[in-house]
Amino acid sequence: MNLKNKKVLIIGVASKRSIATRIAEVFDENGAQLALTYQNEKLQSRVEDIASSLSNTVLIHPCDLSKDSEICQLRDYLQSEWGSIDIIIHSAAFAPRELLGGDFVKNITREGFQIAHDISSYTFTALAREFVGIMNDKSSLLTLTYLGSERVIKNYNIMGLAKASLEANVRYMSHSLGSKNIRVNAISAGPIKTLAAAGIAGFSDILKLVEEKSALKRNVTLDEVANTALFLSSDSASGITGQIVYVDCGFNTSGT
Ligand SMILES: NC(=O)c1ccc[n+]([C@@H]2O[C@H](COP(=O)([O-])OP(=O)(O)OC[C@H]3O[C@@H](n4cnc5c(N)ncnc54)[C@H](O)[C@@H]3O)[C@@H](O)[C@H]2O)c1
Repeated sequence: MNLKNKKVLIIGVASKRSIATRIAEVFDENGAQLALTYQNEKLQSRVEDIASSLSNTVLIHPCDLSKDSEICQLRDYLQSEWGSIDIIIHSAAFAPRELLGGDFVKNITREGFQIAHDISSYTFTALAREFVGIMNDKSSLLTLTYLGSERVIKNYNIMGLAKASLEANVRYMSHSLGSKNIRVNAISAGPIKTLAAAGIAGFSDILKLVEEKSALKRNVTLDEVANTALFLSSDSASGITGQIVYVDCGFNTSGT
């Protein structure tokens, strides 16, 4: 699939194992011009290392999504470098660790609820709102979600609610932006061992369950998620918007 001349912003690189990192590598292999962001100074050198391993020149800029000013600065920077943009990958989520385990009702706090929804759902809309003015015809926005939005997955807790909000966001955004010929989709990925996943208590039990119960009897790979991101972001998916696409080896269809 060809992403030549497509200008792509990827948010969510934190390590070599990040879903966003594999998406960046696959998009780079397919000719895209990339911009990567880092959430804070601690992650800057990791993002720079990953960018330097790619074959095309990569723009790098800070962006803490919890700050409106940083989203706007990122937009202004990309507008000055590129003029316009074609694809945004939102691969970021956060909830306070103490809410990602134990009893859901007992552990919930108003502040934790707000933070999880703010970073994991609102920021996708915020990016659309700030970037829409520089998005080209046939642009695509893509985010990452998880089955915990619709099923109760042990310890996923508050993040399940935030992902449900994110998925509704995908549908509402797709209608809001459709008349501008901008598509909005999500990949619902099966569990993958990354930094974010390590924050969820008992994550290895989830991996084992998928091996046992999924149609393909195994866990999904980073390549499979990144290749689906490539398809959904490309013009080959021009008729697909407002969708949650499962890349989970069929686990979401399992009954018993
Ligand atoms: N790993 C899995 O099992 C899995 C499954 C389904 C969906 N997802 C989703 O995929 C996405 C990427 O997660 P990952 O598994 O690659 O983990 P990861 O830890 O590698 O990536 C999470 C990213 O979120 C970023 N982030 C968090 N708060 C931020 C903020 N305030 N501003 C900017 N960036 C912020 C982090 O810097 C990091 O780059 C997340 O939305 C996650 O919920 C992951």
